[in-house]
Amino acid sequence: MNEATKIQPKLKHIAFIMDGNGRWATRQGLPRLAGHKAAMESMQALVEELVRLQVPYASFYAFSTENWSRSVEEVTGLFALLEHYFTKELDRLKAQNIRLQFLGDHTENSRLSPSIRKIIAEAAASTAGNTGTTLLIALNYGGHDELVRAAQGLAAAGTPITPASLEGALDTAGIPNPDLLIRTSGEQRLSGFMPWQLAYTELYFTPTFWPDFGPTHLHEALAWYAGRDRRFGKA
Ligand code: FPP
Repeated sequence: MNEATKIQPKLKHIAFIMDGNGRWATRQGLPRLAGHKAAMESMQALVEELVRLQVPYASFYAFSTENWSRSVEEVTGLFALLEHYFTKELDRLKAQNIRLQFLGDHTENSRLSPSIRKIIAEAAASTAGNTGTTLLIALNYGGHDELVRAAQGLAAAGTPITPASLEGALDTAGIPNPDLLIRTSGEQRLSGFMPWQLAYTELYFTPTFWPDFGPTHLHEALAWYAGRDRRFGKA
C-alpha cells in the first residue's frame, strides 16, 4: 500500500487552485510575474511529492477563460512560463513517468496561439503512454464554457442529454472526479473550476499563498482530508 492510500484509501484525484501569486509578489515589492514564476517552482516541488505519493490524478487551474482580461504583459508572461514548463521541463516530467492532459478549449477557434496549441498537443502525445501520475492542466478553461461545449457536442451528435452522457462529454471524461480541492491564498470560491466535477469534493482552503505552498502544506491538507466523513448525499 502506498503512502497516499494509507492516508485515505479512496484518494484518486486532487485538484489545485493556485491562488495568491500576485499578492505574494506585491508583498515583496516584486512584479506580479515574479509571483507566477515562483508559483511554477512551487508547483514543480509539489508535483514531485504527488508522484512520490503515487496520487493517480492531480489537476491544476493554470489559466482561465477569464484570465485573458489581465494585462497584456501578465498574459504574455504567463504563457512564456507555460511554454517553458511544457518544453524545457518536459524531460523531467517524462522521467517521473507523468502523463500530461489538458482541460479547456484548445480548438483552432480558441484564443490560444498556434504555437502553444502545438506545444500542449505534443506534450500530451509524448506522455500519453506514461503510467504514473496524470497531471491535468486547465488552460483556457472555464467551467461554464466546458459545460456548454459538452452540451453542444451532444446536441450536434443528436445524443440525449443525461447525467452520464454529459459527464462523458466533459474535458475530464473517464477521469474520476476530484476527492479533494485545495485553494490557496484564503479565497473561498471555485472561480469556475470544474463545477460539475467538484459537486461532492471536499474543499480545503488555506491562507498560504501558492508560491509558499509546499509538500508540508500538502500533507496538512491530506491529514485534514483523512478526517472527513464523505457521505455523497447519503445519511
Ligand atoms: C492565480 O494567482 C494564478 C494564476 C492566474 C496563474 C497560475 C499559473 C501559474 C502558476 C503558471 C505556471 C503554471 C503551470 C501549469 C506551469 P493570482 O495571480 O490571481 O494571485 P492574486 O490573487 O494574489 O493576484
